[in-house]
Amino acid sequence: GLRKKEVNVLCLGLDNSGKTTIINQLKPANVQAQEIVPTIGFNIEKFKSSSLSFTVFDMSGQSRYRNLWEHYYKESHAIIFVIDSGDKLRMVVAKEELDTLLNHDDIRIKKIPVLFFANKMDLRDAMSSVKVSQMLSLENIKDKPWHICASNAIKGEGLQEGLDWLQEQIA
Ligand code: GTP
Ligand code: MG
Repeated sequence: GLRKKEVNVLCLGLDNSGKTTIINQLKPANVQAQEIVPTIGFNIEKFKSSSLSFTVFDMSGQSRYRNLWEHYYKESHAIIFVIDSGDKLRMVVAKEELDTLLNHDDIRIKKIPVLFFANKMDLRDAMSSVKVSQMLSLENIKDKPWHICASNAIKGEGLQEGLDWLQEQIA
């Protein structure tokens, strides 16, 4: 049969933003983890969509592991950047890490799509995706296609919309 196009996706964002929970939801139900624990270093996860075969590098967001992120920039075809919409205090830290990412030599020149999840939209004091995009100054990203979706990774809401957008950009 037809081979699906293989794409490497790098999943980034601060610790506790919900990266692993999101990636777990995108996997087939029979291989989903029942319990999510903070990621140590990174995990590699694979899943398929209708047209693509994804290899996701689910990185730890803990500060001590963030120096691992850059080793995977060169080989990535897309980035998923996850934000905890309820974590107002650390939004500036998330912005710093995003700016460092976008200014890195291996990313700056690449026109790869960046999908943002404004995650934890279920929290009572969650910021809207519009507010999150303002806080992160996403309108300044001119050289890459980007998109932001509000999501609730626990219920799986908003994830498919994001993945559909990513597929369109890559296919
Ligand atoms: P690191 O691996 O440490 O970088 O964290 P992570 O970004 O992978 O976060 P993880 O998926 O481990 O989720 C952290 C916590 O947030 C867990 O307790 C999740 O259950 C919770 N969580 C994830 N997504 C949501 C969401 O949409 N809403 C709520 N309320 N909690 C969420
Ligand atoms: Mg994780």
